[in-house]
Amino acid sequence: MLNDRSSILSLLETRRSGKPRELVGPGPTPGELERMLTIAARTPDHGTLTPWRFVTVGDDQRNAFEALLQQALVEDDADAPAAKRQKEHDFAHFQGSLVVLVSAPVEDHKIPVWEQGLSCGAAGMNLLLAAHALGYIAGWVTGWRAYSERVRAAFCEPDERIAGFIFIGHAGRDVEERERPDLSQVWKPWQPPNL
Ligand SMILES: Cc1cc2nc3c(=O)[nH]c(=O)nc-3n(C[C@H](O)[C@H](O)[C@H](O)COP(=O)(O)O)c2cc1C
Repeated sequence: MLNDRSSILSLLETRRSGKPRELVGPGPTPGELERMLTIAARTPDHGTLTPWRFVTVGDDQRNAFEALLQQALVEDDADAPAAKRQKEHDFAHFQGSLVVLVSAPVEDHKIPVWEQGLSCGAAGMNLLLAAHALGYIAGWVTGWRAYSERVRAAFCEPDERIAGFIFIGHAGRDVEERERPDLSQVWKPWQPPNL
């Protein structure tokens, strides 16, 4: 039962992502993070396969995370300039909490992997909403790191992949609204085909 429908609608209508590099700490408390992940896990899932999971990177693990990224970078580009290495340092140490969303599809199942990927995306979206509802701002990014085999293997089982790095903190500055799709471009009544 929704006892405050307008504030729930307002939450849904105002959620926005933050740029991970602009977030400031602190991230959610352990209890808040658990609540966010519980909400994120409450996601449509055809066949109840749970084709996704979350891996948290602790604040005290950021140096190890950076070492992984630097190793992946050097394997990708042995001559990576200092600026690129600095970018990995910065990424690994973005403030707030880090949740790695892992897509964990069940292959060769009657539920298509496509649908399992959609469920994973829905779990990510639910996590963004849960963070917003608890007074945080979250940012979901991928980039080359999500597609690096070295990084993938550090978070995933063989048939899994990284769906995103989701940082959760507070806005370091006012978050401006961004342009949203014109509803008339993305919503049309169905026209039945001439059969
Ligand atoms: C799967 C996925 C990957 C994304 N990866 C990146 C990324 O690597 N870099 C980036 O700037 N934005 C990325 N974005 C976009 C941002 O997370 C976000 O959608 C955008 O900043 C605006 O978000 P908002 O509409 O929630 O405010 C990604 C979004 C999704 C869904």
